[in-house]
Amino acid sequence: MSTLYRVKPGGTVRGRLRVPGDKSISHRAIMLGSIAEGTTRITGFLEGEDALATMNIFRAMGVPIEGPVQGRVTVHGVGSRGLRAPTRELDCGNSGTSMRLLAGLLAGQPFTSVLTGDASLRRRPMRRVTEPLARMGARIETAPEGRPPLTVYGTTRLKGVEHTLRVASAQVKSALLLAGLYASGRTCVTEPAPTRDHTERMLRAFGYPVLSSGSTVCVEGGGRLAACEIEVPADISSAAFFLVAGSIAPGSDLTLTHVGINPSRIGVLEILKRMGADITLMNPRQVGGEPVADLRVRHAPLKGVEVPPELVPLAIDEFPVLFVAAACAEGETVVTGAEELRVKESDRIAVMAQGLRRLGVEAQPMPDGMRIRGGAYGGGVVDSHGDHRVAMAFAVAALRASGPIEILDCANVATSFPGFVLAARSVGLDIEEHAGEGQPRGET
Ligand code: S3P
Repeated sequence: MSTLYRVKPGGTVRGRLRVPGDKSISHRAIMLGSIAEGTTRITGFLEGEDALATMNIFRAMGVPIEGPVQGRVTVHGVGSRGLRAPTRELDCGNSGTSMRLLAGLLAGQPFTSVLTGDASLRRRPMRRVTEPLARMGARIETAPEGRPPLTVYGTTRLKGVEHTLRVASAQVKSALLLAGLYASGRTCVTEPAPTRDHTERMLRAFGYPVLSSGSTVCVEGGGRLAACEIEVPADISSAAFFLVAGSIAPGSDLTLTHVGINPSRIGVLEILKRMGADITLMNPRQVGGEPVADLRVRHAPLKGVEVPPELVPLAIDEFPVLFVAAACAEGETVVTGAEELRVKESDRIAVMAQGLRRLGVEAQPMPDGMRIRGGAYGGGVVDSHGDHRVAMAFAVAALRASGPIEILDCANVATSFPGFVLAARSVGLDIEEHAGEGQPRGET
């Protein structure tokens, strides 16, 4: 059975908080550490279910991995040719990143593997990776309509291609680059709009040459990765809940420490600033090839904005909580060009519109986004549909609701933000977690 949250209305958020490690970087650290030569030491690793799923998958392919212990993980890399055939299905749980990136990496192995996941992941589209990988010579079978599970018939005969992505997706770009490590010749990916570049940065940190020019990034197959040390910054996608909390709750003053501010991830800062948020970047520094800063947020009256579509891929995971910011802003916020939200852990346009309307917010879903008129709203019962970011977004919404909010099906918060309830309570949210109530997990 699942978990529900009960959040009392009102309150203020204050203090300092370090949210857990970046999910995208944690996945990649395990993947690249596993196929590197030597021992990779990771600190700040996200001990959430998604990153742990990736870790267990590499263990199942014979990679000795120690930890995590307080965010420390040691990966004894087996080299690019050292992975062993798994003897069981590889379970990605709720994690699209695990499945899509692994589809690319496994396409170039000399064995067959099966990638599966929970009910939410088994509904998500995979042709976006299997089709371009097929152009490289990969053979991957899907369930009907291109859904998981994926049976990856690995081959050592992949060939490099030049591929232009149809959707701006870092997962697809990364899948192709990881396959490209095993392909003959050069693999080049051109993206229609910039997306997160953690794969490119981390490949370079492992000493693997990556060529980039404009919107195209290329790798030559057959190179070697050398183990390194990776310090994972706090996840800006998890910090985003508190950036919105601090912005909407009167009297708030909160500092989020050691947050990754990679330029391909800071759409949320840009959008909140356009809405009038008071966010200051302090102590900017570089940590293992990734920029990091402390972010101080103080309450400020927000106003509605039209979100420029080019910012959408740079804030793609932050829309659930940005919709809550819009509900608290004066005037109308319009998001377009965000149809990708429909194929995330849930259909985030439909699910957020349903929940916001339940609270009395004027929210108009559109095929590719949402129109929200800000104003006062009430409490009520909302269903997260098993989507971690939807659950946390509605917890934040309670800060401005006139009544308590009860959020159903919250167990998946543990996929990206273990300890969310404690963290939220520590800065001032009046939130309680009730286990074993609501819908069965992952089956909504
Ligand atoms: C991710 C890329 C994004 C994002 C996901 C993590 C990654 O997905 O939504 O949470 O780590 O590459 P898309 O690339 O499919 O937009």
